[in-house]
Amino acid sequence: MKLFDVYPILDIELSKSKESYVFDVQGNMYLDFYGGHAVISIGHTHPYYVQALKEQIDKISYYSNSVYIYQKNKLAHLLGNISGYEDYSLFICNSGSESNENALKIASFHTGKSKVIAFKGSFHGRTSGSLSVTDNYKLISPFNVNTQHETIFIDYQDFDSLEEKLKNKDICAIITEGIQGVSGIIDPGLDFFYKVESFCKKYDTVLIVDEVQSGYGRTGSFFSHQLYSVKPDLITVAKGMGNGFPIGGVLIHPKFKPYYGMLGTTFGGNHLACTAGIAVLEIIQKENLIENAKKMGKILLQKLRIFPEIKKIRGRGLMLGLEFDFPIQDLKNILIYKEKVFVGTSNNPYVLRLLPPLNINENHIKLFLKKLKKALMYLKNGK
Ligand SMILES: Cc1ncc(COP(=O)(O)O)c(C=O)c1O
Repeated sequence: MKLFDVYPILDIELSKSKESYVFDVQGNMYLDFYGGHAVISIGHTHPYYVQALKEQIDKISYYSNSVYIYQKNKLAHLLGNISGYEDYSLFICNSGSESNENALKIASFHTGKSKVIAFKGSFHGRTSGSLSVTDNYKLISPFNVNTQHETIFIDYQDFDSLEEKLKNKDICAIITEGIQGVSGIIDPGLDFFYKVESFCKKYDTVLIVDEVQSGYGRTGSFFSHQLYSVKPDLITVAKGMGNGFPIGGVLIHPKFKPYYGMLGTTFGGNHLACTAGIAVLEIIQKENLIENAKKMGKILLQKLRIFPEIKKIRGRGLMLGLEFDFPIQDLKNILIYKEKVFVGTSNNPYVLRLLPPLNINENHIKLFLKKLKKALMYLKNGK
């Protein structure tokens, strides 16, 4: 059997990793400024994380949600504490798509409504409900078109249309990313969050903020929306939550009442996944990684500003989008293959995405800048 070929892949096979570096089978070392798509939060193969997983797998790695799982409760407690959402509860699942799928269901169960408002450029995942609020027609199959999902996509700044739609009082939820990632790092901004929060209250609509990519300390606060002091009803997480171990979750406001059978999953919240999740939070706390992301982000931003080729820099902390005055595909390839640094693209062909581990230091930044400079020279002069 061969693999179902759905991913355009780099001609690189990785065999090991350490901190902010990954190594290929030939022994080449790469600086990781992409974190495997914002997944690596605490750095690769962190010894505390590795030890915690090894110890847990020796004891019990899985049992279904029909038994008491201490690690699930510990993870919820820690997450509440570190995020400042202590009065919320946590539903644990396995991925970002699933977390949004469940958030949409919770909102719909609660309101008894089904229509959703999402935003242009959004990416919330590929399962049926998450895809229905994702603004990318290329991902939609005829099967997806024929579902009952009804989503209205609106521009972030079009508050008039937003309020107009809400006036019908048939909208179950508004869903937005904390900062849009796939579209090229777009922060909806203070005005947006302020207005949306007040609209949701006025029209009795659930506010879902997808922090799958922008959460877990990446932007210099635990959740990116916390810069704007808004309090969503539902917050979705995944990516950095397990540092590579598949886990996702929904943080749920106390007004939503659970009942047996309302949600469920076979794998979500198992012993091993929760152990990974606990280790990640303990390391984020012990090593002040949120503060570090903020500090390193500022330094990186300041140094990147002197590059004349970069037209705009968007984002915060260690979630940055660099918009160049040319399409970046060649630059990305030079960075990866020649300079040996992992970076990312986005749906905007001019934007290079940086999502490094949260524990990078100034030496990593210096090295990245040196490599970027060399790559740009190579692109210009061929050497
Ligand atoms: C903001 C956001 N939400 C949801 C998802 C989907 O997550 P997953 O691929 O884990 O299903 C992603 C993935 O890139 C994302 O960036």
